[in-house]
Amino acid sequence: MAGPVGPAREGRPLDVYQAVTSRRAVRAFTGEPVPRAVLDRVLSTAAHAPSGANLQPWRSYVLTSAPLAELKKRTAERVAAGDPGDAREYEMYPPRLKSPYRERRFAAVQQRYAALGISRADRRARSRAVAANWDCFGASTALFCYVDRDMGPAQWADVGMYLQTVMLLLRAEGLHSCPQMAWSVYRRTVADVISPPDDLILFCGMSIGFEDTSTPRPRIERAPLAETVMFLDG
Ligand SMILES: Cc1cc2nc3c(=O)[nH]c(=O)nc-3n(C[C@H](O)[C@H](O)[C@H](O)COP(=O)(O)O)c2cc1C
Repeated sequence: MAGPVGPAREGRPLDVYQAVTSRRAVRAFTGEPVPRAVLDRVLSTAAHAPSGANLQPWRSYVLTSAPLAELKKRTAERVAAGDPGDAREYEMYPPRLKSPYRERRFAAVQQRYAALGISRADRRARSRAVAANWDCFGASTALFCYVDRDMGPAQWADVGMYLQTVMLLLRAEGLHSCPQMAWSVYRRTVADVISPPDDLILFCGMSIGFEDTSTPRPRIERAPLAETVMFLDG
């Protein structure tokens, strides 16, 4: 079995805190292939993620090499043709985001584009940055996570825990990731390549690989703890 490919290979295993704080949505990858044995290890370990009644409602498909190249090509054709995407199976966000979520979303977008040197007015550069989603930001590996249509909010939350577990384990291997709901926009093309059973809904894709450290790496700030956590201690 292949050994770790990142910090662990260099004799510096990450502790959980480091894995959590070093995980970012990475949007520039080198394209270097990820050893299959490492993916096996990450995904078999991520199966330990908790789920209500142990339903394990996630279903992952991992694409590399020719199938991923085909998916990127077909999707790029749709993007180039100005195709707005497929009918939605779920809404990514509420139609009108209320405060403080609206401001947080605005701030995240600002921080990201500021780091890339893209101005608010530069719509072409912004479109290019969005389109990079469907090239998996250059990553050699992509995971597509589906959930059964019969499942409700509690099981979708289970899927979120599973995906975060995958992303933290990837950090332990020296790899990075970017979860991508953007893939749900072109879900039919994903389905054409993957052929999932009809009873599954694509929740999101996830680009996986080695970070290209030559591009800017924005840090997206979090709300102050008091905005999201309340201690009731007498
Ligand atoms: C479920 C989910 C879907 C996401 N979808 C996308 C996406 O389609 N494209 C993208 O560039 N980032 C996507 N992100 C990344 C978020 O924008 C990012 O996690 C957030 O801005 C915080 O930044 P950080 O992860 O770098 O700390 C997604 C994150 C999650 C959890």
